[in-house]
Amino acid sequence: MMYCTVTVDFAIPMPKILLGKTTEVPVGKSKTFVKSGKKILVANVAGVFKAYENFCPHMGGSMRYDGKKIVCSWHGACFEAATGAGKENIAEGSALTPFSVSVEGDSLYLDEESLPASPWANDF
Ligand code: FES
Repeated sequence: MMYCTVTVDFAIPMPKILLGKTTEVPVGKSKTFVKSGKKILVANVAGVFKAYENFCPHMGGSMRYDGKKIVCSWHGACFEAATGAGKENIAEGSALTPFSVSVEGDSLYLDEESLPASPWANDF
C-alpha cells in the first residue's frame, strides 16, 4: 500500500469589517464610524489612516482630528494623531485605544481582531 503526503497551505484571511470609502476621510480630517458597538474615529494623517476608539480616556468625550492632533470636544484633551498618546490637557500616560485599519482599493476596513474583547465575554 502506498501513502502520499499532501500539504495544504491555508491562507486564512484576517476578519475585517467594511467601514466605508477612503474618500469619506480626506487628508487632515477625521470621521467616526460606528461598528460592532464601538465608535471608531478614523483620521487621515498625511495620507495614512489611523484609527482609535472615539472615547476620551478622561471622561468619555467625543473627539475629532483637527489636522494636527486629536482633540476632545468636552475639556480639550489633545492626543498625538500618529500614536494616540496624550499630548496636552490630559494626565501623563493617558492614551487612546488604537484599532487597526487597512485600505483595499478605495475601501477602508477595520481589522476585527483589533477590537477589544468585551469585558463580559466570559460571564455567560
Ligand atoms: S472628556 Fe475628554 S477632556 Fe474631558
